[in-house]
Amino acid sequence: MTDTTFTPRVFSGIQPSGGLTLGNYLGAIKRFVDMQNEGTYETVYCMVDLHAITAKFLDPETLRRNTRELAAGFIASGINPEKSILINQSQVPEHAQLGWIFNCVARMGWMGRMTQWKDKAGKNAEAASLGLFAYPALMAADILVYHATHVPVGDDQKQHLELTRDIATKFNHDYGVDFFPLTEPVIEGVATRVMSLRDGSKKMSKSDPSDASRINMTDDADAIAKKIRKAKTDPDALPSEAGGLEERPEARNLVNIYAALAEMSLEDVLRDHGGQQFGQFKPALVDLAVEKLSPISKEMARLMAAPSEIDRILARGAEQAREITAPILAKTYEIVGMVR
Ligand code: TYM
Repeated sequence: MTDTTFTPRVFSGIQPSGGLTLGNYLGAIKRFVDMQNEGTYETVYCMVDLHAITAKFLDPETLRRNTRELAAGFIASGINPEKSILINQSQVPEHAQLGWIFNCVARMGWMGRMTQWKDKAGKNAEAASLGLFAYPALMAADILVYHATHVPVGDDQKQHLELTRDIATKFNHDYGVDFFPLTEPVIEGVATRVMSLRDGSKKMSKSDPSDASRINMTDDADAIAKKIRKAKTDPDALPSEAGGLEERPEARNLVNIYAALAEMSLEDVLRDHGGQQFGQFKPALVDLAVEKLSPISKEMARLMAAPSEIDRILARGAEQAREITAPILAKTYEIVGMVR
């Protein structure tokens, strides 16, 4: 740990690379709202549009729409622009500027070991963009340009957060300073890894070709019901204790989703529903999911009908953000020896 005391500050981001899924909501946004409302932290939440262009070509209209829709998703889920700073990454240029410095701190070997790089680049790494390779250094900059102390994320981001600590440590060591904090990942709760509804061994993802594999935050009640009814399960009844879910990934996933939506522990869900067949449990899950998600999708649609309001919130967020990021970048440049 560093010796300096940093303001308790939360930063997290989501890529506007496609629609928002139930995995993003339960693993990330719902937790962002909790941390905002705890009152312990300053909270900064971000649409990472610079990250969204690293993987595949996105046409400009789609990127613009995705970014606004993601902002609508944040607000509709309870992110309050009066309490949190809500920004679009490219509107706060210090992210990319610190990202460059970190490109020169991070080592090729570290980046090459990132499992998301290996998964996304696949067998044809030669054809992947340089941005995809450098992605985790920009992510470290997103966090450290705020001196953020805590980062709530789903389980799949754990390795990137370890790299963020490695970059902070190397920078502090190379320049003999105690400038960047060693950020704590916050990966907690029953929904840190929501799985596909079609295959309990795969993460629920906006990039899965099968729309039936995920619940989108824009799905209406009918679509939610259809997807849950068709979700893959096994023929056994639900157990009454968590141990009974071992080796039953699909059953575990549906119980986890229920627990996260109802804000209950896994044990309590099994106490109430243990012994039920999926024919009984699934309708209860449909009712709960529709009750919790429909108000969000309706509010998203309302906000999307007047996107200028979203743009205004993001412009104000960028101004507030730059009050934090500009001095931190200026100090970084000074430490590095850039003549100012
Ligand atoms: P992204 O856009 O893939 O996902 C956004 C957040 O949603 C979580 N998540 C899930 N959680 C549970 N179950 C799932 N199936 C699931 N799918 C996604 C992710 O863990 C993440 O918390 N690299 C990041 C974006 C990023 C970022 C940052 C995050 C850029 N800079 C700085 C934190 C701090 C990403 O690709 O997330």
